[in-house]
Amino acid sequence: MTAASQGAVGDLAEDVRSAHILVATGSGGVGKTTTAAAIGLAAARAGRRTLVLTIDPARRLAQAMGLDGLDDAPRRVEVPDLPEGGELWAMMLDMQTTFDRLIDRHATSEENAAAIKANRIYRTMSGSLAGTQEYMAMERLHELHDADEWDLLVVDTPPTRSALDFLDAPRRMSSFMEGRLLQLLIRPGMAAGKGVGRFVGAGASAFMRVAGRVTGMDLIEDIGDFFRNFEGMYEGFKQRADQVLALLREPTSRFVVVTSPEPPPLREAKFFLERLEKEGLHAAGIVVNQIRPELPRDPTDAQIDRAITAQTEDRDGQAVAGALRLLIDVRNVAARQRRDVSAALYGVSVPARLHVPLLAGDVNDLAGLDRIATALTTGEGR
Ligand SMILES: Nc1ncnc2c1ncn2[C@@H]1O[C@H](COP(=O)(O)OP(=O)(O)O)[C@@H](O)[C@H]1O
Ligand SMILES: [Mg+2]
Repeated sequence: MTAASQGAVGDLAEDVRSAHILVATGSGGVGKTTTAAAIGLAAARAGRRTLVLTIDPARRLAQAMGLDGLDDAPRRVEVPDLPEGGELWAMMLDMQTTFDRLIDRHATSEENAAAIKANRIYRTMSGSLAGTQEYMAMERLHELHDADEWDLLVVDTPPTRSALDFLDAPRRMSSFMEGRLLQLLIRPGMAAGKGVGRFVGAGASAFMRVAGRVTGMDLIEDIGDFFRNFEGMYEGFKQRADQVLALLREPTSRFVVVTSPEPPPLREAKFFLERLEKEGLHAAGIVVNQIRPELPRDPTDAQIDRAITAQTEDRDGQAVAGALRLLIDVRNVAARQRRDVSAALYGVSVPARLHVPLLAGDVNDLAGLDRIATALTTGEGR
């Protein structure tokens, strides 16, 4: 393998110009939200009407994008000097609103929808269920895609423990909605006929008795109502999950896998790329974000060592020697990061592998986003 094929190759310029959906994913804290915003800005600069669906922007980035309110509506971001047709819009995902709309769509009647939305179990569980945030991000994406108002939707993903959770969300959600085990516990009658069913049923009534004593009968009734009201909706949820996956499988939907140059997120990024391939999903590329810029190897370490030895023992000489040692250190860290990246991504084949330099400060204004956008679309960071 050549040095070039191990290092950074390609860029996201073509994806920014032609994709309809770009999803930024990766481990927590690596720069997904920042990358999604920068891609959005790049696309607006390329003359496309772009919406960034963001999840958890840092406060100052949210302000820079005009997202002070927490409502679920797209907001136009003021960007100077955009070409004809280029627009940047941003919105923050509001899970509860999205979940409520989902209930409205799939409920068997208006009364049914109202009953679910007023249910205490629904109100407390809908925000905290495992995978809900991921599922709602997908659900909102589907709605926005159907609305057909945007050339490009850029999707940020939640700060999940594992980037893989995002792909599992639709399936996990629909299997939760099927809720077979919980139904058995709450409606023992459903399992009648089978020995196992009778056993679960007996266990369930004991469960109900104990739970009723501890938490009050109201809560038990709420749980029962919740699952009764959800009946008839499971199929809709599952179909929706399948539609979202089909949408994500289209060739114009692509994933941008973001990582930092440290081995754990790099490993996760590699797993994620393998998983994309298995699922028939398309990778736009991998972005190694926050990598230290590579410094020239001239002068060599040996030359610098000689210069250090040649310094005088006085204060000035020692200060110069210290600065020279620092140069060697910084250069070694940058080189080590590149070795880690090459080792972790050995054998991984993606259309683009990009390095985005670690900037001196947080990225929370348009100028910072423009710098990241340039690195993403020109590959300058390599
Ligand atoms: N290339 C970069 N240089 C400097 N700071 C960065 C860079 N990319 C991201 N950051 C900063 O790192 C922090 C985490 O980034 P964020 O995009 O919120 O990560 P994630 O969404 O993956 O959790 C933010 O404060 C952001 O400004
Ligand atoms: Mg984020």
